[in-house]
Amino acid sequence: MGGAVRSPAKAPDRAAAARARALREAIATHDHAYYVLDAPTIPDADYDALFRELAALEAAHPELVTPESPTQRVGGAPAAAFAPVRHAVPMLSIRTETDTTADAAAKFDARIRRDLGLPADAPPVEYVAELKFDGLAISLRYERGALAVAATRGDGEVGEDVTRNVRTIRAIPQRLATADPPDVLEVRGEVYMRRADFEALNERQRAAGERTFINPRNTAAGAVRQLDPAATAQRPLRFFAYGLGEARGFAAPVTHGELLRQLRGFGLPVNGDWRIARGAAELAAYYEDVARRRDALPFDIDGVVYKVNALDLQRTLGYVTREPRWAVAHKFPAEEMQTRVLGIEVQVGRTGAVTPVARLAPVFVGGVTVTNATLHNEDEVRRKDVHVGDTVVVRRAGDVIPEVVRVLPERRPADARPFRMPAECPECGSAIVRLPDEAVARCSGGLVCPAQRKQSLLHFAGRRAMDIEGLGDKLVDQLVDAGIVRTPADLYGLDAARLAALERMAEKSAANVVAAIEASKATTLARFVFALGIRHVGEATARDLARHFGGLDALMDAGESALLEVRDVGPVLAQSIARFFAEPHNRSVIAALRAAGVRWDEQPPQRGAAAGPLAGRTVVLTGTLPTLSRDEAKALVEAAGGKAAGSVSRKTDYVIAGEEAGGKLDRARDLGIPVLDEAGLRALLAGRHP
Ligand code: IVH
Repeated sequence: MGGAVRSPAKAPDRAAAARARALREAIATHDHAYYVLDAPTIPDADYDALFRELAALEAAHPELVTPESPTQRVGGAPAAAFAPVRHAVPMLSIRTETDTTADAAAKFDARIRRDLGLPADAPPVEYVAELKFDGLAISLRYERGALAVAATRGDGEVGEDVTRNVRTIRAIPQRLATADPPDVLEVRGEVYMRRADFEALNERQRAAGERTFINPRNTAAGAVRQLDPAATAQRPLRFFAYGLGEARGFAAPVTHGELLRQLRGFGLPVNGDWRIARGAAELAAYYEDVARRRDALPFDIDGVVYKVNALDLQRTLGYVTREPRWAVAHKFPAEEMQTRVLGIEVQVGRTGAVTPVARLAPVFVGGVTVTNATLHNEDEVRRKDVHVGDTVVVRRAGDVIPEVVRVLPERRPADARPFRMPAECPECGSAIVRLPDEAVARCSGGLVCPAQRKQSLLHFAGRRAMDIEGLGDKLVDQLVDAGIVRTPADLYGLDAARLAALERMAEKSAANVVAAIEASKATTLARFVFALGIRHVGEATARDLARHFGGLDALMDAGESALLEVRDVGPVLAQSIARFFAEPHNRSVIAALRAAGVRWDEQPPQRGAAAGPLAGRTVVLTGTLPTLSRDEAKALVEAAGGKAAGSVSRKTDYVIAGEEAGGKLDRARDLGIPVLDEAGLRALLAGRHP
């Protein structure tokens, strides 16, 4: 159109502008009726007609498009990454009550009464009991009534900016329905998907020959975190508001219940299934009632939430670490289902441990379809008396591996077969041996066994070992199966072209993996020793070995008696370490790793007691400390020369117990080991021993 004359800018078309505004308002009203009030006001076809008219109008008059227009809910160009958003008020999570009986309500109520210092004859505390939605927590920031930012929880302090994705969710108003909006109102709530919408989505996926999704929760969470907003727009997401973050210029109500009404008044979807409950008995009654109605709800929940209703009492109760004292999540027991055992196979782990796994007729339990469950070891199979052909009860709680709870003996068919541990490893054909005093049977194939090789490589690349990001199980499977990688040293010979030639490997990710492998070369001796995967050598032992010997050669040449001089190294460990380094194959892999450029700073050996106020002391941490995370406390103990151990024994010097400390605390009391709180730990670190 080289010499064409540009048409003069169009005069604003008032009629079109007015029509566009009217259409936008009408659509917002219908969205509200449909998603918030659950009471559609017009047929879908009429709604679609309004939408099409607005889209046509905006196409003809692009200057009429506003960011808040419903037509903008369809997405837009994909992003490269999400920008970080610092939450003005941290997004906390809530303490989960693990007791799944109604007693949990009484425990929570008793704790609240104690924390509030209420006498026994004080009237019942007033709570709000709500559903615990199973989705993804989101914070919506409205500035002067307009949706400005939507962010995920992230680590609670900093989340991800998912505004463009969240704008595609019709249930979320672009603007608060009030003439006098607060300056800032951060609404906290859950993005979720209804079960029927999820089923319909999977139906569409199947029809299109695409992969189906696992459950509504993962699908909703995945959709919010799509880099392509247009993809999010294709997922039928919904939202429920249940709390507040930052609020400015907002006449805050007096109770949580009023807040929920107020949010609904602003046009936000608030689930109506909440109740005021006075005292523990009414909380427990709500729990029982919801548990009964759970399957009839149109969406998934995983429990109920109790909140102190009066906001001033919430403020009085305050927070422990990152959790409010005024709320608790009371979960439902893990779902159990019956299914049939089609077979019992064995899986081989890194150390050769052979684990029996039940192959199950697919069963939907705890939100996913389960097709296998671990049986732990041979004795466990015998104890539970699981036969192939049995009908069993399986359970899945949270993200843990599904397990077989029990067999239904009355439903055992005549041709049921007991499990027999195979004599040979199914992966490499080596003998499976079980030592007399061990619960587990092992494949004796060592690194000849591809299954052990894969697991060793995954361990080697792990975050706490060599920390090679992107080297996950799928990639390791491919590399080992194709014979490209046999030992960890082979990883350092990989190049991007070779990786990119693998199936499902994009050029970019191949380059990323190669860069991660390169970066992993600069490491520490402790990480390297841990990465080798020597049996019984965990992170703490690896650190002790690195300190004691200072360099790798001294460690490799140490005999069992020299190893026994290392703190906390006993005969079993000493033998395992010495055998590992005596193995010529292991020595050559180590030599190849060093030749490839894997390196660390060697230090002079640090024998005997470490320096620092906790030198030579062993400390066990348990429960939640008020201000220190577990990792922070552990780092402080180690920096002071102490050892942070995982379990309490007679060798433990101190147990540091926080809230919700469990069995370790009991054991410390049984053994008469001093128990301290965080303040006590700080005193120890300052050199003051009790
Ligand atoms: S209140 C400060 N209420 O469960 C309290 N959370 O840790 C903030 N959830 O991250 C949470 N339904 O994603 C609250 N009715 C409800 C909820 C709820 C689901 C989620 C939320 C939170 C997690 C608990």
